[in-house]
Amino acid sequence: MRAFLDLISNSQWDSGISFVGCGSATPQKVISNHQLGQRVDTNDEWIQSRTGIGERRVIGDHESLIDLATDAALNAVEMADWDVKTIDLIILATSTPEDLFGSAPKIQSNLGASNAFAFDLTAACSGFLFALVTASQYLASGSIKRAVVIGADQLSKWVDWDDRKTCVLFGDGAGAVALESSGDKSGLIGYDLKSDGSKGGCLNLSQSNIFLNLVQGATHQKGEYLPIKMEGKEVYKFAVKEVPIILGEILEKYQIKSENIDWLLLHQANQRILDAVASRFSIPSEKVLSNLKHYGNTSAATIPLMLDEAVRDHRIKSGDLIACSGFGAGLSWGAALFYWHGPY
Ligand code: ACO
Repeated sequence: MRAFLDLISNSQWDSGISFVGCGSATPQKVISNHQLGQRVDTNDEWIQSRTGIGERRVIGDHESLIDLATDAALNAVEMADWDVKTIDLIILATSTPEDLFGSAPKIQSNLGASNAFAFDLTAACSGFLFALVTASQYLASGSIKRAVVIGADQLSKWVDWDDRKTCVLFGDGAGAVALESSGDKSGLIGYDLKSDGSKGGCLNLSQSNIFLNLVQGATHQKGEYLPIKMEGKEVYKFAVKEVPIILGEILEKYQIKSENIDWLLLHQANQRILDAVASRFSIPSEKVLSNLKHYGNTSAATIPLMLDEAVRDHRIKSGDLIACSGFGAGLSWGAALFYWHGPY
């Protein structure tokens, strides 16, 4: 592994940013592939072999996305051993807020983080990475010291449960990280983010174009969204092309060899995408983090949910180098290289 100090001096930041806590929360209700096969024309064999997904979790009665996001954030704050009053910023990456005006302030209030400002950020499955980088700008500038970044989504609300091409893929969940500015111990080495709106039609959760009469001679648009629509093959091709490019570019920029990566942490969309990206860098399967089997694609939550699982079961250890990439609707994608510095 390259000397740690070389990486700091080579990094994108004036001030270091440390990952000091993580947390997650998932709904209680598990829906198996077999159960979905009772609703649409699908089966466990197809879903497992084409995606790696065995089951997913869906928010039901007495649960809410805000509750999951609050629990995930609280777990991260407890791991970091912070007083909630010392949190300066909370960003909720989500495409499925409970309130279009923003759900993050409700989480801030639930946590009792009365000194934090809080806002939502939408970048679909890349949302966690985009939010991580956004929080890092505040931390690196010295304007704040502590931030919680949450990725949480409830795509079960917006999936067409009669469309077998999409309904088997998604699940609900939340994950979070606690980030701290630190002079000497840099966790986040660097990042890159990209968007290509010209291909946005491949994957949408778009508004319906229903107009209703307002007054004579004027209409207004009804606030309503259509179910998720995805051209799966196009998104698949985009992911297996762009993720290796962006990861390769930041590895080269920071002069890190792929054999020095301890963990490959990708957005959990499809096991075949994880395997294809890993093979491009000759990363062995035991270094590729995957929990698709149990959660499916939880959109903005997949990366922090996976991180939390691997930290808490002691696969990821303090000082491990993680190569991370997210991709999805927008189209949007990004990558980040970071060291885990949490207490576990
Ligand atoms: N069960 C059984 N058969 C199915 C199912 C299903 N659930 N879904 C599709 N099929 C059938 C199709 O109808 C098709 O049949 P046909 O050949 O008779 O027409 C056949 O299986 C093959 O379908 P494809 O769509 O070609 O299957 P593919 O191998 O491409 O897998 C999948 C589809 C899993 C969606 C894959 O393309 C994929 O993972 N794409 C990427 C998705 C992704 O990464 N999204 C990330 C972002 S999500 C976000 O940002 C919110």
